[in-house]
Amino acid sequence: MRILGIETSCDETGIAIYDEEQGLLSHQLYSQVKLHADYGGVVPELASRDHVKKTIPLIKAALKEAGLKSKDIDGVAYTAGPGLVGALLVGATIGRSLAYAWNVPAVPVHHMEGHLLAPMLEDNPPEFPFVALLVSGGHTMMVEVKAIGEYQILGESIDDAAGEAFDKTAKLMGLDYPGGPLLSRLAENGTKGRFKFPRPMTDRPGLDFSFSGLKTFAANTIAANDNDDQTRADIAYAFQEAVCDTLVIKCRRALEQTGLKRIVIAGGVSANKQLRISLEALAQKVGGAVYYPRTEFCTDNGAMIAYAGMQRLRNGEVTDLSVQAQPRWPIDQLQPIE
Ligand code: KG4
Ligand code: ZN
Repeated sequence: MRILGIETSCDETGIAIYDEEQGLLSHQLYSQVKLHADYGGVVPELASRDHVKKTIPLIKAALKEAGLKSKDIDGVAYTAGPGLVGALLVGATIGRSLAYAWNVPAVPVHHMEGHLLAPMLEDNPPEFPFVALLVSGGHTMMVEVKAIGEYQILGESIDDAAGEAFDKTAKLMGLDYPGGPLLSRLAENGTKGRFKFPRPMTDRPGLDFSFSGLKTFAANTIAANDNDDQTRADIAYAFQEAVCDTLVIKCRRALEQTGLKRIVIAGGVSANKQLRISLEALAQKVGGAVYYPRTEFCTDNGAMIAYAGMQRLRNGEVTDLSVQAQPRWPIDQLQPIE
């Protein structure tokens, strides 16, 4: 079975073809970063219009890269949510229509389930069960994963997502959108210990997160100090250290609470080097292991959607001709795979 995956939930058009036996055959990505950079964030209407332009050409490119024709595709998986509704509708409409024209099933995929399963595309995939820390631009969630579709949310952010906090703080420092990776690069030259940011919500029990206060703390620190390169790097360092420490503290708690040893991190912020290093250290301390996707599959992509869609199609989850786009779609509402 070969699945075409379509991802258009935000500002990346991602297309991929996944084969049940051979694995990933091709993947194409177009990032709209430049389109939105002037606005300092994603402009939903511009995102939708650009997905309209890019989706079909990228599907053609993915077929060509895999050396396949449309008749070789056995199913179409598209991101149905959560995300920007206009952007979702583009991929959903194209995906559903192609499936109809090709006479194959279409399957709506949950974007965060895609992220969560992205490490399965790697050579050494985690076994179930595990704890998943999902850290993207739109979501921060700790999930106990018993099997595909068996998700229990242990905690989530009560305000900004981790990626959003990175982006907003980066913007305060004058970095371009999305500032997460740029802030992280700036932090590489930072001095440990010059600034100390709080570790929000770690002084009370529970697994929820709050990151909006860090952004305010960053704003105050920036205002109270010089704006030279070293100071900027030091602030970036302290901010990143606080986010990583907070995430690690919560991961340790989640492992204790569930009695599990495996941690999966996924979503854009899982590309963060410092977070990976800190979680590797935690895993070593508790005799566990940490798993994450290759960097290009941490952020949005079509491969994770094709993979998740494959699992759901194999489970016989075929939809009617309706086009599904759900801007809000709690991950714990998904059905377990039988
Ligand atoms: O998963 P993703 O591509 O999109 C959403 O589903 O939201 O995540 C994008 C987010 C952005 O906030 C971006 O700044 C952040 O991931 N990000 C990073 C890094 N790479 C991407 N944040 C910190 N360090 C990074 N290296
Ligand atoms: Zn995402």
